[in-house]
Amino acid sequence: MIFAANFKMHHTRASTTEYLDQLDKLLAEAEYPFKTIVFPPATALQPSREWITVGAQNAYPEERGAFTGEIGLDQLKEFGLDTVLIGHSERRNILGEEQEFLAKKFAFYAGHGFQIVYCVGEPLEVREAGDEAVAEYLWEQFDGIDLDYERLVVAYEPIWAIGTGRAAKVEEIAATHAELRRRIARPILYGGSVKPTNIKEIASVKDVDGVLVGGASLEVESFFSLMVAIAPPQV
Ligand code: 13P
Repeated sequence: MIFAANFKMHHTRASTTEYLDQLDKLLAEAEYPFKTIVFPPATALQPSREWITVGAQNAYPEERGAFTGEIGLDQLKEFGLDTVLIGHSERRNILGEEQEFLAKKFAFYAGHGFQIVYCVGEPLEVREAGDEAVAEYLWEQFDGIDLDYERLVVAYEPIWAIGTGRAAKVEEIAATHAELRRRIARPILYGGSVKPTNIKEIASVKDVDGVLVGGASLEVESFFSLMVAIAPPQV
């Protein structure tokens, strides 16, 4: 099981450091078999901890250069980081990142051996059009992406479930992950309103290999409680 925390534009450098210190300590004591990834904002990037992989929410597909406002490979390497999130719906829809550009990012960071958490997800009108429409929409979001890349982790995040408090139903998650599983052998995470109250049923769905969490990851206690809900620490 993979637990990934996407801070989005929350937390500062100081609060991220405090968060990672606290979480790393809890994870060391619990000795979980889980993989934990935290994606802080770019200003709070820092080396991974013993029990936590730190990843970048975004990075430009170049080592360095004239790309105002961006960070690239050089900046990530300074912290020894090799995990990046690509294709989040907020970057697709708010920042206007097109599939071709995402494929370029993917190829660049895959070429440098990064672990890539690659996100896909449909808007509500596509979900309402049924499973077939969802499948077609999601596969288009894999255009130009190497599904056999060995450090690929896929995150299915229905847009209508992100930050709305309304997670997808287990049947919807099961059907969508089964569809993705037809061509993806790598881990598939679910994201979208994952909370301490629904983590158990979501984690029990076949082909859910982990979760990508926004709101419920912002406090250490809340994020850690997702793990506790699945496996209470041995005392
Ligand atoms: P929420 O958990 O806040 O719905 O956000 C999900 C998400 O977008 C994680 O990347």
